[in-house]
Amino acid sequence: MKPFALLVLIAFISSCSPKEKISIEQYRPQVHYSPQKNWTNDPNGLVYLDGEYHLFYQYNPYGTTWGHMSWGHAVSTDLVNWKELPVAIEEYLDATTGDSTMIFSGTAVVDFNNSTTLCNEPGCLISIYTSHLHRNNQGLRQHQSLAYSTDKGRTWKRYNKNPVLDIDRKDFRDPKVFWYPEREKWIMALVVPDLYKVQLYESKDLLAWNLMSEFGPAGDTLRIWECPDLFELPVEDQPGKTKWILSLSGSHPAGPTFVGMQYFVGEFDGTTFTSAQLQPLYVDFGKDYYAGIVFNNVKDRTIMLGWVNNWTYANQIPTGKWRGMFSIPRELGLKETNQGFRLTQQPVKEWETTRQQELNSVTELQTQTFELEVELPEGSGIHLFKSGTEQTTIGLRDGKLFLDRTKSGRIEFQKDFASVEFVTIEPKPERLTIRILVDQSVIEVFSTDGLYTITDQVFPTHTNPGVEVLGGAKVKKIWNSARK
Ligand code: FRU
Repeated sequence: MKPFALLVLIAFISSCSPKEKISIEQYRPQVHYSPQKNWTNDPNGLVYLDGEYHLFYQYNPYGTTWGHMSWGHAVSTDLVNWKELPVAIEEYLDATTGDSTMIFSGTAVVDFNNSTTLCNEPGCLISIYTSHLHRNNQGLRQHQSLAYSTDKGRTWKRYNKNPVLDIDRKDFRDPKVFWYPEREKWIMALVVPDLYKVQLYESKDLLAWNLMSEFGPAGDTLRIWECPDLFELPVEDQPGKTKWILSLSGSHPAGPTFVGMQYFVGEFDGTTFTSAQLQPLYVDFGKDYYAGIVFNNVKDRTIMLGWVNNWTYANQIPTGKWRGMFSIPRELGLKETNQGFRLTQQPVKEWETTRQQELNSVTELQTQTFELEVELPEGSGIHLFKSGTEQTTIGLRDGKLFLDRTKSGRIEFQKDFASVEFVTIEPKPERLTIRILVDQSVIEVFSTDGLYTITDQVFPTHTNPGVEVLGGAKVKKIWNSARK
């Protein structure tokens, strides 16, 4: 190439806005948040403060596989458009022992009454995270530590008397802390993973913690427990009635080859969580929804988001300079059905701002970031990312909502990735209406009543795949989606 032509080419490439550059990166979601580069897992410290939602997350600043765990950080005013900020809390070395401490999953709270007295005035952010002490990549011990920020999460200081909670165990992690106004105290839920136990602690100052009670083993114990959360939800159509939900991450509903999330519905009296539930209940039936927790300090609604990935293949997914993304923030509800109390999930209402244009036909779709509303009579379905023999199928068969990604494109990177997900709809329906949110390499399916969700990643190989409707399925709404 002649030097002048090369210069023109360089000028052209650099004149593209960052957004345009992102949009041509293979598999990069356009409306789901993913950090610009490197490895990401669990959401951490979800909290709302002064008009900003904070999303901290498990992050490796040095590579595209798990390691050097630190807290990455992004903020949003609307839960849709996120701005990535510098790493918030980093892994650190102990100069005397040479051991290093990774910053594992945890929580952030607004210390509205300056209970720690670490900040000069009320309202600073406190993070309580698992300090994972390790030597030569061998975990030695996990305890809980604290950091504080007086500039809305931009910079953090670690508390100089860390850790604040240590029970002398190698595995003891993922604190979720929230304010319990009835007794004016802070509550922490965290897990002893290999004992399938959630422990509940209380504190007045976030520094000294007192064990109140334990829950478990219960429900699904096929894999270790991680990332618990405890929150109260109003029961739909039953004014004044509420229940408490204990959610946690562990085995997948399809068995322990994969990870997934389960929940318990019960009561919490300020000290103890109890549940009469007999069988395990699961949050999402896809393979890619894990470590979800809810935001602190959000009034009048409960919003959860999860990590879109699965430990079984997370380190191998064929994305480029980044690995890992987060789900659509979901508003949670609780419904009393004939089968008992069930969680409901809907994309937060702000998600509707991603709808760019309403289209009349799926043939008009020009991008792989879109939303569909589809009515599925029994025996019908829809192909997404359809090109030649490559396709991802969503359908309703024998009363089961399913997503089949066995022919979805790149599946070879890990032997268990090519899977079919399904959930039995109760009672068996003649038809089911679903909302499908497609974003380059992630699909989130919500039944419109919110009772069933399937979240899966796919890695199609064709550039202009289409949508194909099968056996009486009706596409009722189609939108192109994009962020502002
Ligand atoms: C869950 C998890 C947590 C831990 C973190 C480490 O995915 O294993 O239990 O704190 O990831 O990155």
